[in-house]
Amino acid sequence: MGNVFVLDHPLIQHKLTYIRNKETGTKEFRELVDEVAMLMAFEITRNLPLQDKTIHTPVVEAQAKVLSGKKIGLIPILRAGLGMVDGVLKLIPAAKVGHVGLYRDPETFQPVEYYIKLPSDINERELIVIDPMLATGGSANDAIHSLKKRGAENIRLMCLIAAPEGVEMIKEEHPDVDIYLGALDEKLDEKGYIVPGLGDAGDRLFGTK
Ligand code: URA
Repeated sequence: MGNVFVLDHPLIQHKLTYIRNKETGTKEFRELVDEVAMLMAFEITRNLPLQDKTIHTPVVEAQAKVLSGKKIGLIPILRAGLGMVDGVLKLIPAAKVGHVGLYRDPETFQPVEYYIKLPSDINERELIVIDPMLATGGSANDAIHSLKKRGAENIRLMCLIAAPEGVEMIKEEHPDVDIYLGALDEKLDEKGYIVPGLGDAGDRLFGTK
């Protein structure tokens, strides 16, 4: 069963408060999201497997540890997911980055994938899907289905803020996916915004309205 982890490190909570504040401007918002993404990546990668490696320090031969196992792939969901990619890459610079763009057809309500470009070996990678605002969970759910259809097996989901509705949807549809959150908020409002949330993450990141 997938687990839900709220990464409530004091630094993440502190920075999230400024991210949520409507007085925070685009430049500072972007910088703070980048910093929180980096802090979250530190926690999300806590259980990556290690293997021994023999090295020579300037003093002696020593047994040290290096990462083993699967390589990492980051899959931001367009567009707000882009705001968290650089922060994660600061800690995992060798990760490959795929992109997924989706919208829901207003008539059929079916997900329409308008863009997808993935590393060719996603089935061999530990994937981190990045969706800053897990609201209804629709986009993340569709993106994860889309990745699984293409062979992905190991998927984690990383979100800045989630609503309980989104978490429930992912837990139900993808019980194999661990979910990592900066915060779990109260609810969705009638317009689909997370409450208290931070508003529209894409608009706040890119200065659009
Ligand atoms: N997407 C956002 O950017 N914000 C929300 O509150 C919900 C979905």
